[in-house]
Amino acid sequence: MPAKTLLALTLLSSTAALAAAAAAPLPANFATQVSALSETDQISFTVRLRDSLALKPADVPKSLTADRAAQGAFVHSTLTKHAEKTQRGVKDILKAAGDKVSFVKSYAVANVIVVDATRDVLEAVRAHPDVAEVKSNAAFKVIDKPAAVVKENGFAAAATAPQWNLAQVHAPEVWAKGFTGGNLTYGHADTGVQWDHPEIKSAYLGTKANRKVDHNYAWFDGVRRAIAASNPYCQPMGVAPCDDNGHGSHTASTAVGRNVGVAPGARLMACRNMDNGEGRPETYLNCMEFFLAPTDVAGNNPDPSRRPHAIGNSWGCPAEEQCDASTFDDALANLRAAGIFMSVSAGNDAETSGCNSVDAPPATSAIVTSVAAVDRSRGVDISAPGVAVRAAWRGTGYNTIDGTSMASPHIGGAVMLISHACPKLQHDVANISSLLYQTATPLFTTRSNGCSGDTRKNTPNSVYGYGQVNVLAAINKCTAAAARA
Ligand SMILES: *[C@@H]1O[C@H](CO)[C@@H](O)[C@H](O)[C@H]1NC(C)=O
Ligand SMILES: *[C@@H]1O[C@H](CO)[C@@H](O)[C@H](O)[C@H]1NC(C)=O
Repeated sequence: MPAKTLLALTLLSSTAALAAAAAAPLPANFATQVSALSETDQISFTVRLRDSLALKPADVPKSLTADRAAQGAFVHSTLTKHAEKTQRGVKDILKAAGDKVSFVKSYAVANVIVVDATRDVLEAVRAHPDVAEVKSNAAFKVIDKPAAVVKENGFAAAATAPQWNLAQVHAPEVWAKGFTGGNLTYGHADTGVQWDHPEIKSAYLGTKANRKVDHNYAWFDGVRRAIAASNPYCQPMGVAPCDDNGHGSHTASTAVGRNVGVAPGARLMACRNMDNGEGRPETYLNCMEFFLAPTDVAGNNPDPSRRPHAIGNSWGCPAEEQCDASTFDDALANLRAAGIFMSVSAGNDAETSGCNSVDAPPATSAIVTSVAAVDRSRGVDISAPGVAVRAAWRGTGYNTIDGTSMASPHIGGAVMLISHACPKLQHDVANISSLLYQTATPLFTTRSNGCSGDTRKNTPNSVYGYGQVNVLAAINKCTAAAARA
C-alpha cells in the first residue's frame, strides 16, 4: 500500500506554516544536508520568489470569463510574464554559474524555480533580495518499499446495474438526462494511469477517433527522476502513460471510467506526480503547471485552452516529502482563477487526528474542496463513498478498496457532469462548490464527537462537511437557474 497516496496516508501531528522572511534560514534538516556536500556535489532545491502572484477569480476581467479559452490565456500569460520578470535576477546567477548548475525549471503556476546545483550556487540564490525562501526538493532518499500488492480480479463484463457508489451519488439519473460529461476534460494527478485499460481507453484524451494514439496534450510525466525503488512499469519522464501502482488507474476510473465512472462521457488527461506513491514539491508542481497550460509530452508548447475543467487529487504532500501546509497555496489559487476545480482527498486519519485529519497540502488549503470518505476523515467540505469502491486496477482488472483517495474522484466526476449540464458555471469554481455544498444530502454525526460546533443535527460538521454529494440535486438546481435566467 503506498504510503503517500491517500489509501493510508500517514499524517503528521502538526505542520507549521513557514513564514516568508528575508533570506529565510534553511530548514534545519536541509541545512545539515547542504553543509555535508562537497564543493562539487549538487543538490535539488526549490526557490520561491518574494513577489509571487496568487490570483483571485475577480482578477480575471469579467469580459473574459464567458470564453474559457480567453480566461485560460489571460491567467497563463499574466503568470508567465510575472514569473519572467521576477525570476530574472536568479536566472542571471544560474546562468553565470555554468556547470555548477545541472537543472533549472521555471514555473508560472507558482512563482518557483526548481534547481539542481552546488552549495555555493544555492547560497548565492538564497542571498538574492528577490528570493523569499529556498527549500529542499531533495532529500532524495530512495525509500525501498515492497512492490505494491496487485489484486487482479480479471476484467468482468460491464455490470448491468450501476455500481452502488454511483447510485449513491445519483449519477445514473443525471446520465438519463443526457449529461455524462460531454467530452469535457478531467485532469488526473496521481501514480499515472493504465491508459489502455478497458475502463479508461476511450476516455483517455490520447485515444483518437481513427484508432490512432497521440499522448501529446493528454499525458505528462511529472517524475523527472526515480524516487521510489525501480519498477518495471514506469521510467522517469515516460512519453506514454504508465501506472506503477494501481492507485492512479483506480481513482481515474472512478471519475471517468466507462462502466465504473461518475462521468463516463468525459475525457481523461493524466499526469504522474508520484513514483510508486512518493512525490516531491517538484513532481506535484509539474502536474499543476501541466494542467494550467497542457503541453506536449516533452513539456513544450503550452496551450491553456486545453486545460481541464476539474482535477482529481487523491494525494497529500506531508513534511517527509518536503512540503509544509502552504507549499501549494499560490498554485491552487491560480488554478482556481483559471476556472479549474480541485477535488482533494482529505486524509484517512479520523481515528488519530481528533477533529481535523486534514494536515498535508493540498487539502489544507481553504480554496480547494476537501473530500471525506464517509467515516474516514475529519474537518472536510463534503463526503462521497470511500469504502469498498470497485474500480480499475493496473492491468485489465478491478480492485475494491477503501480510502479518501476513492472518495475524491466522485466529486471530480460530479463536477464534470455539472460542467456539462450547466456550462455557464465552468469558469466559476466557487459557484460550483457552493452548488455541491447546498445540494449535498446532509449527513449528521451520530454521536457527540466533541468537535467544536458539531451537534447531532448541524451541517456542515467536521465529519461529513455538508454531507454526501448528490449530483442529481446539483444539476436540477443549476439547470433550473439557467432556465430562469
Ligand atoms: C464526444 O465525442 C464523440 C467522438 O468524437 C462523439 O461521437 C460524441 O457525440 C461527443 N459527445 C458529446 C456530448 O459531444
Ligand atoms: C451561481 O451562478 C448562478 C447562475 O449564473 C447564479 O444564479 C447564482 O447566484 C450563482 N451563485 C453563486 C454563489 O455565485
